[in-house]
Amino acid sequence: MATTDQDDQLVTPWEVTAASQKGVDYDKLIKKFGSTKIEDSLIERIARLTGKPANHLMRRGIIFSHRDVGLILDAYEKGKPFFLYTGRGPSSEAMHLGHLIPFVFTKYLQDVFDVPLVIQMTDDEKFLWKDMSVEEARRLASENAKDIIAFGFDKEKTFIFSDMDYIGSSPDFYKTILRVEKCVTVNQVKGIFGFNDSDCIGKISFPAIQAAPSFSCSFPQIFGGKKDIACLIPCAIDQDPYFRMTRDVAPRLGYPKPALLHSTFLPALQGAMTKMSASEASTSIYLTDSAEDIRDKINKYAYSGGQSTVEEHRRVGGNVDVDVSYQYLTFFLEDDEKLAKIEKDYSSGAMLTGDLKKELISVVQQVVAEHQQRRQQVTEQMVQEFMTPRKLKYSY
Ligand code: TRP
Repeated sequence: MATTDQDDQLVTPWEVTAASQKGVDYDKLIKKFGSTKIEDSLIERIARLTGKPANHLMRRGIIFSHRDVGLILDAYEKGKPFFLYTGRGPSSEAMHLGHLIPFVFTKYLQDVFDVPLVIQMTDDEKFLWKDMSVEEARRLASENAKDIIAFGFDKEKTFIFSDMDYIGSSPDFYKTILRVEKCVTVNQVKGIFGFNDSDCIGKISFPAIQAAPSFSCSFPQIFGGKKDIACLIPCAIDQDPYFRMTRDVAPRLGYPKPALLHSTFLPALQGAMTKMSASEASTSIYLTDSAEDIRDKINKYAYSGGQSTVEEHRRVGGNVDVDVSYQYLTFFLEDDEKLAKIEKDYSSGAMLTGDLKKELISVVQQVVAEHQQRRQQVTEQMVQEFMTPRKLKYSY
């Protein structure tokens, strides 16, 4: 597997560790990956073009890096179409708060740009990487699809697919995968992903399967066989290696390179040294947790940037850079004024850790309760409909 660099942080699709409680140094990561930092001018341009206020995740630097988004906006300005592509590896029954972020952002993009969205459920990937049967991985894909539908995507604009099913039913998807597979050598995937000779051959070829949905020819039912519709991929930064590979092969296949928007990670409850992980219950708040679970986990585990005694806290103030509760509020509390006041009061020592946690608990309880209500309304029939290959409301 890939090694940590000199600065001791590691970001791969499988592992995220940072060297300090402040979390991953994202500026360093931009340099290492060769992506581009999102400047205010880009955020303003998106707000201007869409006529809608910029999303809080962009304004707060949670969506922090990109590749070629300017080109997508140039095309959009000229009335040329593009589509969105994102995905989810269904590794567990319950998704957690960290999984919500890229989807909340993707939904915003779909709403303001009014474009088609394809969502890849990589049940094949989870079968290959985890101790899981194909049947179980396929089942989890449908279970997670319910959560994704509950995020509010529009059925007329969204196609969700399981790799296992869609590869089996779509010759065009498989042909696109084959074209990518032929362009990438074992040496290259070893270099990009750190695979070694003991990894099963399924892992070696999987990156082509994650690459293929970037190309519109994978979805003839949506794009009428056009192979040149531009693609924008919102994803967490750990997925970037897949798309560096994709962008590398695209010109050789005569396809446009996909553009990317990268998000940071939601820190683990215990602190920003690592990200929230579905397999570690005490680091995570699941979308299935009860209001009491949420209260108890935040009170018990959320890493505090406060001081050890009330007297000292009042004197020195809390450190919002490492305080997990404050960090979470930047993701989930959309009210800018309220957030600014919390930052000021906590930093000055006027607000204590207990009060900050109380704020967070009520915000998260509301986010999760609303999600649970929407998920209850999602029927098997709706999952079927979203997952049926079909034309969406757009014509090409
Ligand atoms: N590999 C991703 C995961 O494990 C799933 C995924 C597939 C994805 N295609 C994507 C994520 C495109 C973001 C964008 O979760």
